Amino acid sequence: MRMAVLTSGGDAPGMNAGLRAVVRAGLDRGFDVVGIRRGYAGIFDDGFEPMDRRSIVNIVQRGGTVLGTSRCPRLRTDAGLAEAVQILRRQRIDAMVLIGGDGTFRGGAALEAAGGPATVGVPGTIDNDVPGSETSLGFDTAVNTAVEAIDRIRDTATSHEVLHFVEVMGRHCGAIALAAAVAGGAEAVLVPEAELSDRTLAARIDAEMRAGKRSVIVVLSEGAREGSAEQVAANVAGVLGLEHRLTVLGHIQRGGSPSAADRILGALFGLEAVDAVAEGARGCYIGQRSGAIVRIPYGELDGPPVGLDQRLVRAAHLIS
Ligand code: F6P
Repeated sequence: MRMAVLTSGGDAPGMNAGLRAVVRAGLDRGFDVVGIRRGYAGIFDDGFEPMDRRSIVNIVQRGGTVLGTSRCPRLRTDAGLAEAVQILRRQRIDAMVLIGGDGTFRGGAALEAAGGPATVGVPGTIDNDVPGSETSLGFDTAVNTAVEAIDRIRDTATSHEVLHFVEVMGRHCGAIALAAAVAGGAEAVLVPEAELSDRTLAARIDAEMRAGKRSVIVVLSEGAREGSAEQVAANVAGVLGLEHRLTVLGHIQRGGSPSAADRILGALFGLEAVDAVAEGARGCYIGQRSGAIVRIPYGELDGPPVGLDQRLVRAAHLIS
């Protein structure tokens, strides 16, 4: 068995832990393990590199991905797919482990459909938006990073009594915002999955302040509104007649050493992915359901979008 592994899409803390588990477990089974640098782009630009135990030494604690990553529009064309399949055949790749998000897995499905090798996905994205899986590599670390930032902002917000907005990542998914809001004790959270008008938000903040709050922090998911975060913040603060500040956390959330939870998840997802490859599985990704590590068919990528954890929605509403 010649098994390739790549990381693709936005990097996420814990990808290295997943990669390490995949390489170690693959070598343990006697596979030839090949890393592909720079995600799918590495298929086209000779990114193939044999992996041995030394390739993955001292990486479990490192953020980013030592293999590098990219978003690869070329794989979305018929010509690109056909060329990728030819190259993978020439490289004698029997199976691939794909560490990334839903776009990465769709790439795997397209490769299989075009006659490419078997593929098995490992969810790696801070957004936690992979359908059917409760969590993904990088989410826990990103939430912890956001919470640390919110805690720091709380100190200055309490001292100056200024209204603060903190924008977090997540693309079209409010999972980071919701978890960070609950853990950071934010007074309000704006997510793409739920309507909340500026006026309603302003009324809620007003009520908090009348009830004696000295600091108010609103967590804003980047995909929550059409307009910019600054527009939202200025509108709401304008309704209330308050001074405001906006902090955009941005790529800070993507970097840093992975949390213990993400390292452990990387180990478990990676081992399961190699078990799946060894058993001849294809067209699926690994996920977590009710705490169990499971295999999910690619077909579920087209299912309903990932909803928010309703327990957290309730918590954010009730105990802010
Ligand atoms: O998918 C991960 C993510 O960090 C999203 O949260 C964000 O919208 C996007 O990637 C940013 O992508 P880029 O680094 O290409 O700007």
